Amino acid sequence: PNTIHVPELALVALVGASSAGKSTFAARHFRPSEVLSSDTFRALVSDDENSLEATADAFESLFFVAGKRLARGRLTVVDATSVRPDDRRRLVDLARRHDVLPVAVVLDLPRNVLEERHAARPDRAFDPAVIGRQIAELRRTLRGLPKEGFRHVWVLRSPQEVEAARVERVP
Ligand code: GTP
Ligand code: MG
Repeated sequence: PNTIHVPELALVALVGASSAGKSTFAARHFRPSEVLSSDTFRALVSDDENSLEATADAFESLFFVAGKRLARGRLTVVDATSVRPDDRRRLVDLARRHDVLPVAVVLDLPRNVLEERHAARPDRAFDPAVIGRQIAELRRTLRGLPKEGFRHVWVLRSPQEVEAARVERVP
């Protein structure tokens, strides 16, 4: 899909393993204030954007802000891996509570691409096997996204598709 249609009022879940390009995609297609990144919230609560220990507080804070935005009718993008159904379910529930459409943009790129990017990143020190597990979890559950409640599911499968993608806001 070259053109990704996103309702003016939506909760957009970016979905993909680490190094899939979620934050890059978000920065390219959305305003900075529209994007709530789990890493930003980890840093806000713990001064360490990689702190796994801070995950619960980070997400509680992220959901609080997301809820305030949606209540004000502001489009909101959640930049977190969201490869597990339980994580996505919470996003769908939040969207439903605020009567906005949950939309998923999935970055499902080849594993070797992600591993190469990961190796080149100074900001991600963890074992690349983590990426393999995230990709496996995503692919195992990807077909279930519409049933989870996402009204639109856009899947980008290569760097070329990501490069060509445009986001169009529709009323
Ligand atoms: P996490 O925050 O770890 O979950 O990763 P992420 O999905 O947010 O990935 P991010 O956008 O940070 O991209 C990871 C690395 O891949 C960065 O070094 C980017 O510069 C690079 N990258 C992301 N998207 C693209 C792309 O479309 N093309 C190329 N060539 N590089 C990209
Ligand atoms: Mg990121």
